[in-house]
Order: sequence, then structure tokens, then C-alpha cells
Amino acid sequence: MTRAELLAAVRREALPRHVALIMDGNGRWAQRRGLPRREGHRQGVKAAERLVRFVAGERLVPCLSLFAFSTENWNRPQEEVQDLFDLLVRFIRERGDEFVEQGIRLRVLGAVEALPPSLQRAIADVEERSRRGDGLDLAVGINFGGRWSIVEGARRAMALARSDGLKPEDLNESAFARLLPTAELPEPDLIVRTGEEKRISNFYLWEAAYSELYFTSLLWPDFDEEALLAAIQDFQGRCRRFGRVPQ
Ligand code: FPP
Repeated sequence: MTRAELLAAVRREALPRHVALIMDGNGRWAQRRGLPRREGHRQGVKAAERLVRFVAGERLVPCLSLFAFSTENWNRPQEEVQDLFDLLVRFIRERGDEFVEQGIRLRVLGAVEALPPSLQRAIADVEERSRRGDGLDLAVGINFGGRWSIVEGARRAMALARSDGLKPEDLNESAFARLLPTAELPEPDLIVRTGEEKRISNFYLWEAAYSELYFTSLLWPDFDEEALLAAIQDFQGRCRRFGRVPQ
């Protein structure tokens, strides 16, 4: 099917409200071409830029998440970590105006205080400038981990216990969800992982309780608009029961 046919087909059915992408395979993409890993990440950024532009331009889904740098990615060689941060600063700085114009609201999720100051400044600037964007919520995980996120929620609950007298019996699933860094986003309906592995790798954990999972062997730099539409089409064929019996 062409892109236009795929687009028309997915629009005929309920679209997910939140699609989350685990972008894996940049390194292998580069290695298979005899290129340095850095080049794979550069192409990975281009793929992400194309997809964000497409999703926002088509008003395809209201929320898109990108898992850019996990709490475990610090274990990569220092040079690669630096390359990734440089690319992320450039991505945020260079796309900032476009985000504002296209109504894209950027939210960075993660322990940003541990990131290089230049990256922290770029994040704070574009988050602030894009704050009123209502076309697409773009959540980018940088120094993010699902476990970190749950611990953040627990910390906030403990702080509320001290400041407002929050009691253990006041805390339930929905109250706790409101304390998580992801509280303002809908739960992901669809989580897509590229690059052959079939795991969540400490991305959304709490939020993924009822997400549909989609795995593709495409390496991230090759994941394009058609591939995203194919994932959404697959999602639309799933039977989501949320623990209930089929109707
Ligand atoms: C996985 O490839 C990718 C990452 C470590 C995440 C970084 C992602 C990008 C730079 C893409 C652009 C992101 C944004 C937000 C613009 P890998 O190195 O794990 O690949 P491998 O498994 O083949 O080694």
C-alpha cells in the first residue's frame, strides 16, 4: 500500500492516543555499512525528525514518546555518550522553532539534572517556548528509566506525607499515577520497538500495563512513515480486553 492508502486505512479506525517508540538499531545500521556508530545515531535523529514532522503534520496521534537515552545508556563508551548528548542538544535547539510553529509541545522525561548544562538549557528553553502547543505532545525520554519514574512517584508520595499528611490508605493506583513524571500523558496504547530485540528495556513500566507491544526487525534509521502506519494498522487489529472477557 502507498502512504496515502495506509493513512486512509488507519484513519477509518480508532487511532491510538499515545504511541511510544523504542528506537533501537542505530549502531547495527552503521556497522552493516562499515560506518562508525556515530553515523547510525545521526541517521537515527533524521528518522526521528521525519516521524515527528509527519505525526504532527497529519495530526495522526495526540501523543508520541521517543526513548532517546536510558538510565543504563551511561554504561556506553564515554565518547558515544557525548556524541548522543551533542546530537540531542542539536535536535532540540534546531527543531525548537519548528515545534512552536507546528504546535508541538516538548516534554523531556528523565533525571535532567544529571545531563550536561548545555542540554539542560536547550530542554528548559524549548519546553517553555512550546508549552502552549496543543497539536502533539512529544515526550522524549533522556536519562529516563521506568524504574526511575516509579521511584520518583514514591519520593513525591513521601514528600506529600511530610508536607500534607498524605496517609498510606490515601494512596491508590490512580492517586499514585498522578504523582509519576508521566502523569500528564495518556498511557501508551502502543509501544513499538525496532531492531529485532523483544523487550521493554526499562522504558515505560507502570504505564505499559495494558499497552499493545509491536516489534519490528527494521533498524531505527530505516523506520519510516509507512512503517509507523503499518504498526498502527497492526494495533488496530488487536483485541484489547483490559482483563475483561471478550464482548
Ligand atoms: C539505539 O541504537 C538508539 C539509542 C541509543 C537511542 C538514541 C536515539 C537516537 C539518537 C535517535 C534520535 C532520537 C531523538 C530524540 C532525536 P543502538 O546504539 O542501541 O543500536 P545497536 O543496538 O544496533 O547498537
